[in-house]
Amino acid sequence: MSTWIYSGSFDPVTLGHLDILQKASRLCDTLIVAIAINPDKQGCFSLEERKAMLERCTGQLPNVRVEVFHGLLVEQARRSGACVIVRGIRTYADWEYENQLCEVNRRLAPELQTLYLPCDPQLSYISSSIVREMARHQADLTHVVPAQALEAIRQRFQP
Ligand code: COA
Repeated sequence: MSTWIYSGSFDPVTLGHLDILQKASRLCDTLIVAIAINPDKQGCFSLEERKAMLERCTGQLPNVRVEVFHGLLVEQARRSGACVIVRGIRTYADWEYENQLCEVNRRLAPELQTLYLPCDPQLSYISSSIVREMARHQADLTHVVPAQALEAIRQRFQP
């Protein structure tokens, strides 16, 4: 049985994230979507809100489980029995950071493999901060976030 882990801040989840986790969930037995607590990032949505949004968006994917974790991703992967760390690659700009992260994680946990999945090119411009910026200005979010997360995001940024 293969368990993979896909982590991020998901503040909030986007169609780009959903694209990657749907692809990954078709390739493994269990996919853990792990919400990382990043002390360098001031969260816009609470961890509970992010988890609830992700759970609604992945409700149709029976082999996906959403978790929140403190500490290192590799430790969470070990705790969950995951053997693969999934990362989405959107553009060339992602490569340098992702390769650095991959190497850190390899040194911390050589038994884990990092797997890069290419993002749908049509979604490669999306990031959570772009979504937040659009929402702040009441722009149409239907092409950037999953339908199941739309209402919660709109409500947060109501004028
Ligand atoms: N589609 C849309 N957006 C995407 C995306 C995709 N496929 N892939 C990445 N992004 C965006 C995110 O929305 C986020 O946008 P933002 O900066 O505007 O908020 C940005 O790219 C960064 O992505 P994310 O993967 O969420 O990175 P992060 O910096 O929040 O966290 C980790 C990355 C791996 C460090 C974190 O998830 C983690 O596991 N932290 C635990 C501590 C740890 O183990 N650190 C590494 C070893 S020291």
